[in-house]
Amino acid sequence: MDEVLSAAQLLFCCVDTPPTYSGDADLSRVETVLEEVGDSNDHALVMKSTVPVGTGRSIRRDRDELGYVSNPEFLKEGTAVKDFMEPDRVVIGSDGDGSSGFADRVAKLYEPLGAPIIRTDVASAEMIKLASNAFLATKISFINEIANVSEEVGADVTEVAKGMGLDDRIGPKFLRAGVGFGGSCFPKDVSALKQLAGNTGYHFQLLTAVIEVNELQKRRTIGKLQKHLGSLVGKQIALLGLAFKPDTDDIREATSLVLAARLQSEGANVRVYDPVATDRARELLGGVTIAESALDALDGADGAVLVTEWSEFRELDWGGAVMERMATPLVVDGRNFLDADLLRSAGYTYEGVGR
Ligand code: UGA
Repeated sequence: MDEVLSAAQLLFCCVDTPPTYSGDADLSRVETVLEEVGDSNDHALVMKSTVPVGTGRSIRRDRDELGYVSNPEFLKEGTAVKDFMEPDRVVIGSDGDGSSGFADRVAKLYEPLGAPIIRTDVASAEMIKLASNAFLATKISFINEIANVSEEVGADVTEVAKGMGLDDRIGPKFLRAGVGFGGSCFPKDVSALKQLAGNTGYHFQLLTAVIEVNELQKRRTIGKLQKHLGSLVGKQIALLGLAFKPDTDDIREATSLVLAARLQSEGANVRVYDPVATDRARELLGGVTIAESALDALDGADGAVLVTEWSEFRELDWGGAVMERMATPLVVDGRNFLDADLLRSAGYTYEGVGR
């Protein structure tokens, strides 16, 4: 650390802030960084880690020398470098004279990216990050509920989302219905914002619903299998995909983990396959067979659930090799990713989400 401190004045803090049992953010890594940095008016801590609103203020209370700049990160896993280099916006928050000079320098660093730079106070910068993730998660839970109602009334959620998304005020992104959102960010940040509000005495009702809808959405798939197979006791179910989304091996808060556990408790034998995420899953998925390929997972299956939209799943020979391997041609497409018409005409019973 001495070497770093003598060479640099802007210290970007990028440690993780995982959720605690109560849903608050665990700031122990941030605290470790602060202990190592100490207090100095030659340095500023530039906070990229996602922290509760008020964190910057409380750090400044304890360290009046150290500059503090909030600079939340908006990149997505799988497209991190592109998102960093081509941001929609850069948010820079600072309070008071001691930090604004440092904030000017942080803004200068980002200027070459050509993105809009939002200069604001620290609490607002912290809130922009949490509110953005919570809003995107709300969009997903909203479209998932539209999907569930569409199933009842005979509408197709993919058509509905297309029609809604063309309204500029709504926009087409994050309107893909599916098996619920996962990952290390949305579930954690939605809970953290709800908890943060709760700590001030405010009950954030909407976020409570967003979380609940997401949990129920993960479990709806079981009902779709039961609709066609009856009891799942002794049935063999293939899960295609473990990662919380494609192009990452991250299985934190992944729907696949909840599904595998629920299927096992219904008495099913579960076989899973993921092109990259199986190593991480091995220790978490006791009693589940980890297959070496998608075909291996589908061998003898009474039903298949597509959990992660890896492109290789679309390229499988559904009409030939897969059909020959499966015991019952039942596919629950948890991401509306496969070609429904093609599967139906090949003889599958196909269930999507909201179609
Ligand atoms: C998310 C945000 O998109 C980033 O802007 C943010 O910086 C990041 O969290 C973070 O806070 O660090 P990430 O978790 O990598 O990024 O993944 P997303 O691409 O946002 O997807 C999150 C989950 O939502 C996935 O499980 C995905 O399958 C699901 N999703 C996404 C849907 O179910 N429907 C959609 O239409 C979009």
